[in-house]
Amino acid sequence: MEPGGDATLRPPARPPGGGPARACVIGAGSSGITAVKALRERAIPFDCFEASDRIGGNWVLGNPNGMSSAYSTLYINTSRERMEYSDFPMPTSYPDFPRHDQIARYFNDYVDHFGLRERITFDTPVRRVTRRDGLWEVTVEGGERRRYEAVLVANGHHWDPRWPEPPIAGAFAGETIHAHHYKDPSQLRGRRVVVVGMGNSAMDIAVDASYHAASTTLVARRGVHIVPKYVLGKPLDARVHPSRVPFTWGLRLMQPMLRVTVGPMERYGLPRPEHRLGQTHPTVSGRILDRLAHGTITVKPPIEELAGERVRYVDGSEQDADLVVFCTGYKITFPFFEESLLSAPDNCLELYKRVFAPDLPGLAFIGFVQPWGAIMPLAELQSRLVGDQLRGDYALPSRAQMHRDIQRMLRRQRRRYVASKRHTIQVDFANYAIELQDERRAGGERARQARQARGAPGARGAPGARGAPGARGAPGARGARSTGDVHRGAYSPARATLLHRAPGRDPGRGRVGGS
Ligand SMILES: Cc1cc2nc3c(=O)[nH]c(=O)nc-3n(C[C@H](O)[C@H](O)[C@H](O)COP(=O)(O)OP(=O)(O)OC[C@H]3O[C@@H](n4cnc5c(N)ncnc54)[C@H](O)[C@@H]3O)c2cc1C
Ligand SMILES: NC(=O)c1ccc[n+]([C@@H]2O[C@H](COP(=O)([O-])OP(=O)(O)OC[C@H]3O[C@@H](n4cnc5c(N)ncnc54)[C@H](OP(=O)(O)O)[C@@H]3O)[C@@H](O)[C@H]2O)c1
Repeated sequence: MEPGGDATLRPPARPPGGGPARACVIGAGSSGITAVKALRERAIPFDCFEASDRIGGNWVLGNPNGMSSAYSTLYINTSRERMEYSDFPMPTSYPDFPRHDQIARYFNDYVDHFGLRERITFDTPVRRVTRRDGLWEVTVEGGERRRYEAVLVANGHHWDPRWPEPPIAGAFAGETIHAHHYKDPSQLRGRRVVVVGMGNSAMDIAVDASYHAASTTLVARRGVHIVPKYVLGKPLDARVHPSRVPFTWGLRLMQPMLRVTVGPMERYGLPRPEHRLGQTHPTVSGRILDRLAHGTITVKPPIEELAGERVRYVDGSEQDADLVVFCTGYKITFPFFEESLLSAPDNCLELYKRVFAPDLPGLAFIGFVQPWGAIMPLAELQSRLVGDQLRGDYALPSRAQMHRDIQRMLRRQRRRYVASKRHTIQVDFANYAIELQDERRAGGERARQARQARGAPGARGAPGARGAPGARGAPGARGARSTGDVHRGAYSPARATLLHRAPGRDPGRGRVGGS
């Protein structure tokens, strides 16, 4: 949790021939730092502005930026091998599921190992981003404006609390907080606590309350499949993303395994899920089932009304409470954009490959996915795509194609997931990683063809055209096939194996490059 150091606004990064820096990265959380690395490796002049005095974003407990949702009892729920960047393993001394401070340390180590810290301007919130004369004008705190060809938005999507919508009727005499404001079990001690939601925040906070509060009630508006961190002695995400079978097959194998090992949710007093495993973002917790089994947590249906000290539920039951913790998710917001330029109403963010805004050239988003698996390696792949684009080695398809692709993706998403604002940016880790890699090759081919059409020198030298593995015509490649093929989710075990290195590999850290 090292502070970043320099708090003054650096001079703008300039390309060798002068002129404006080409790109601006907003945020130096785990998504922003890997974007910084990708740009630096491609020698693209950029600025990175970070609101806080340190890197790590959400993983810094009590981050001075006020945006972290971490609490003292937070451990990752995606295993460390799933979470680490491709060229910087977490220390083998770390447990499978490290604590928040170990994760924050890892991001600091990444930044220092690759020499990225001096490329980040700390204590500099971006206040406004507008489109002007074909460029992006970025205004930072204090009023200085700079212009860029591209803006990489990496401000995170788990910091702006979503409260119940519509608000719960009535007036409460006790305290209400959102999970974002939960920092430590001392907030729960001796109180009658009601925890609303069935996501991962609700699980952690209900477990904490079950040890520290006078009573704990968990409010579920629907049943979910709660999955433990380990299944048959391995982290769950190593089980559902085995390297040799597609993700959906992994889920199909997982469901009977969970039926045998965990049993039906009703057995724990929880509502029966009305969907299959994999149709919601995973709720991962071994501990909650224990605490339910010990009778330390009571389960209730949705709240109908808050009345003084009483909480009334839709089944007619009621109880006294001192504290209601709403673990009702987060809003995707971009305070620096005019809403008319870009917003994500109900968390809907229509981006090509979850990265590019088709009608706003030069605008890219890093880390705006919600995976079955971890965000970091996906943000790394997204960053390479954008880096390639800025270097001229990747070209987007036409706007019409991008819009068609987005609509296909949205239709698939609606079919796959339970309707909820938490499932608008949901992806399957391996499938999406492969989709990004395929897209990088396809866009590399488009860029090469465009150069060839212009008769530009070096037209044959672009990545994807060099006979590199996976390039068009190379073994196992699908080359520049239509994005529709990518979406049908064809799966290459060989490539998936590359994405998921086997446990027990050489822990030697940090090859520079790799992208
Ligand atoms: C409680 C909790 C637990 C989680 N556990 C996991 C997990 O186990 N595994 C997993 O993969 N994911 C997990 N997540 C998801 C989480 O979003 C990611 O782990 C990760 O933090 C995403 O990184 P990010 O860089 O996109 O966003 P953040 O970590 O939120 O970082 C965003 C950065 O941008 C900066 N910033 C924001 N606005 C501006 C601005 N206007 N100007 C300049 N800088 C700005 C912020 O200061 C911050 O440093 C969890 C989320 C929560 C809330
Ligand atoms: N590492 C960890 O252990 C850990 C801990 C906490 C969070 N996280 C991560 O952080 C992210 C956010 O998680 P989160 O749990 O805060 O949010 P979330 O995943 O969006 O879950 C929100 C929950 O609240 C419910 N909900 C929403 N509005 C409601 C209402 N009005 N009444 C009753 N229930 C309501 C949702 O139900 P519906 O499904 O019906 O919409 C859902 O169960 C996720 O990526 C999660 O994995 C990880």
